[in-house]
Amino acid sequence: MIGSGISGLCYALEAARTADVLVLTKGSREDTATRWAQGGIASALDPADSVEAHVRDTLAAGAGLCHPDVVRTCAAEGPSRIAALETLGVRFSRTDGGVDFDLGREGGHSARRIVHAGDMTGREVEDALVRAASAHPRIRFLEHHMAIDLVLERRHERGSPVTGAFVVEKATGRVRTIAARTTVLATGGAGKAYLYTSNPDVATGDGIAMAYRAGALLADLEFVQFHPTCLYHPAAKNFLLSEALRGEGAVVRRLDGSTFLEAYDPRGALAPRDIVARAIDAEMKRTGDDHVLLDLTHLDPAFVLRRFPGIAERCREYGLDLTRQPLPVVPAAHYFCGGVVADLDGRTSLPGLLAVGEVACTGLHGANRLASNSLLEGLVLAQRAAARAAAEPPRPVPEAPAWDPGGAEPSDERVVVSQDWDEIRRFLWNYVGIVRSDRRLARAARRIALLREEIREYYWKYQVTADLCELRNIAAVADLVIRCAQFRRESRGLHYTVDHPEPRDEWARHTLVDRWDGVRLAAEPGRF
Ligand code: SIN
Repeated sequence: MIGSGISGLCYALEAARTADVLVLTKGSREDTATRWAQGGIASALDPADSVEAHVRDTLAAGAGLCHPDVVRTCAAEGPSRIAALETLGVRFSRTDGGVDFDLGREGGHSARRIVHAGDMTGREVEDALVRAASAHPRIRFLEHHMAIDLVLERRHERGSPVTGAFVVEKATGRVRTIAARTTVLATGGAGKAYLYTSNPDVATGDGIAMAYRAGALLADLEFVQFHPTCLYHPAAKNFLLSEALRGEGAVVRRLDGSTFLEAYDPRGALAPRDIVARAIDAEMKRTGDDHVLLDLTHLDPAFVLRRFPGIAERCREYGLDLTRQPLPVVPAAHYFCGGVVADLDGRTSLPGLLAVGEVACTGLHGANRLASNSLLEGLVLAQRAAARAAAEPPRPVPEAPAWDPGGAEPSDERVVVSQDWDEIRRFLWNYVGIVRSDRRLARAARRIALLREEIREYYWKYQVTADLCELRNIAAVADLVIRCAQFRRESRGLHYTVDHPEPRDEWARHTLVDRWDGVRLAAEPGRF
């Protein structure tokens, strides 16, 4: 298991019923994007709501690319998985003296359906999963170790089974091979490929890049979700202001106090987040302002402080009182809807390799993820994947080759890593961001080609370090996003380009990409 967020740990806890599980993580075990999730878990739990309505909303957001069977499975199995979390000790917010869930509201949802733990849902869930996994006799953690690449049974052969991973210990640079019957990617997304992101530093697309290099099939990497409201403050590197704030009545304003979202969509602040992010981006470009405002000052301060204690506390650290002053916000890269193609049981195109959570592309999110459907996907599909893997006949642990360092020497030019990293993040933000164009994408393509060449040379010449691996992965992800975005000559969901501003029926299919056949359109709608 590579990764220790909600998907990795749900998988590990289920798999450990019948097998030993090693959880590899490049930080400490709780250093995950899951822990940062504020909003919650979407699930139809209100008597007035229904699984069908949740399915409808998810399909509508997904703009023709969701797989209805996957959407239905996640929506239908959500309630029982939320109950399972409660048995692990997760305390969700409740009303009426603890009888009912205090269901929140977010953009694109036709009902209140967000199960949350105040505004720190991810922390509450992650802590409970870490506690359970750490206490489990068949689960072992290997922290501060980074996977470099997947090991293939037959190197350079298309479709070769995966038999483990090469791993570098961050403190020492020592590389070893870990052999596994099943290798599971639960590595999350790649928000760090962009200059502005809501993601933690660990979100460097490692799983996407490793799977691509191993020859696995990937899909839909052009669909990068930008969250409309991250705090704009020099000291707040990537602090999200949850969509739940808008769900409870927060208003987006220009710096002069006027509102504008209703001019873009009648649902205003509760339109799906691609629409809100694009509207904010357009207004910032039109006015030349470097941020807009998120205003809660008209709401009851006692309610705001009770409902959003974590956000209020963080704002206070930055000298801001959200009950008395509007907060400066900007959109930021938030979630990768595309990734490693995986079915309902986590199976990828390579035997021995599973993918769960944000790294996977299962057909749940389509071209645009509905808010709070990602923790739901991790909960439901990771557990299914583990149950399915456990039902397969046991296989011996494969042999895995030792790491060959070649003639690599220690690097004396670490500055290359930080320089290339900054460059990629900046041009991805400027050229492959919320609004794209043929010209901007072509510029980005030229730059990433040069940088990848430079990084490749550096990688082969010098001894591997975790920083270098992350740079190599970010560059690979950037290249895939650019190529997929250039390929899709229409606008759909999260992919918006001024040169092809409308959706086109013939493009209502997945973008597929692998290292063997390059980028192409899926042969038929609704299938990878
Ligand atoms: C948020 O709290 O706004 C993020 C929830 C999500 O991304 O689903």
